[in-house]
Amino acid sequence: MTAPPILLTPGPLTTAPETRRAMLVDWGSWDDDFRELNQRVCRHLEAIGGGTGHVCVPMQGCGTAAVEAAIGTLMPRSGKLLVLVNGAYGHRMVKLTATMGRAVDTYETAEDTPPDPAELARRLAADPAITHVGVIHCETSTGILNPLDELARVTAEAGRKLIVDAMSTFAALPIDLAWMPAAAVVASANKCLEGVPGLGFVLCDKAELDAAKGNAHSLSLDLHDQWAYMRATGQYRYTPPTHVIAALDVAMARFEAEGGRAARLARYRDNCRHLLEGMAELGFISLLDHVIQAPIIVTFLSPRDPNYRFADVYRALKARGFIIYPGKTTKVDSFRIGCIGSIGPGDMDRLVAAVASTLDELGIADTAPADDASSETDMVMP
Ligand SMILES: Cc1ncc(COP(=O)(O)O)c(C=O)c1O
Repeated sequence: MTAPPILLTPGPLTTAPETRRAMLVDWGSWDDDFRELNQRVCRHLEAIGGGTGHVCVPMQGCGTAAVEAAIGTLMPRSGKLLVLVNGAYGHRMVKLTATMGRAVDTYETAEDTPPDPAELARRLAADPAITHVGVIHCETSTGILNPLDELARVTAEAGRKLIVDAMSTFAALPIDLAWMPAAAVVASANKCLEGVPGLGFVLCDKAELDAAKGNAHSLSLDLHDQWAYMRATGQYRYTPPTHVIAALDVAMARFEAEGGRAARLARYRDNCRHLLEGMAELGFISLLDHVIQAPIIVTFLSPRDPNYRFADVYRALKARGFIIYPGKTTKVDSFRIGCIGSIGPGDMDRLVAAVASTLDELGIADTAPADDASSETDMVMP
């Protein structure tokens, strides 16, 4: 069998064989052993969050379902969410909030520009109807890192509640609920925890969750109900992704063995540095200024060479064992390469070598971006 490709994507991503092997056992979801596993995983996620006032409520499904559950449960039906938007996941948060019939407004900045905490303070002062603020920690659509700590401080000072989509940062970038005021931090198993997809979770401020009974617009996405049932029975209300949870348990044991969050971040930073330096040597330009580039995923501007087509590069890299991602920005033609997953700097060096040989094979000599670099991308968005 040929080796599986390395996924340089923001999740599902490359997992360790040990994590995948954990899925070879079937679990009875009512069984005491599974309840114990579930409890262990939830307590572990709470510990990574760092706070004592937050409880972990797991939610079956994709990360978006967990974001939807957090907003639908923790924001009263009369509430209003201000979403800080600078990319696709911010837009998605707006859309899912509007879809559930809640009031929502946006503070939008360009895709390469973080929101300004002072401007957030001004907007919160100007609109007393806003009860909650939604922020995307790392906008994975570009890789931009938003200034979470300052945004959290401004939100708390204005007496509003914060909902953080930390899908692509939790367990790598610092998020310390011991001091950071947040009603909810949402993430999923298949990003920096390096588990497999199928489980989201929300670290909820316990007082907020207690007060949230009856808020939810949806039965299956009701975090209060999920939590109350789990507390009473130790079980999920509805079928849990048993294999995914078993894999996450092993993935988190690996996380601790690596040295926890700081060690994981250090490896991702190394990966990102090797990627940026290697691609720069090949003439590629990345979208973001390095100070706002999260070591999670990097957006590179597409080369202007007439022989460049993303689909051809994708296929050639796949043949060399690497899966990359199309761009997800609306303004520039681009592609993305992830730095997270069970991969190291050596993998990034091999990827850069594979890109170099792909350029040769496809006759792409000019890797500089187009002068305006602003054509609408025609790629299929994942
Ligand atoms: C920041 C962020 N939010 C939300 C999501 C959505 O997660 P999912 O695709 O699991 O629904 C993603 C996925 O990459 C993400 O990066």
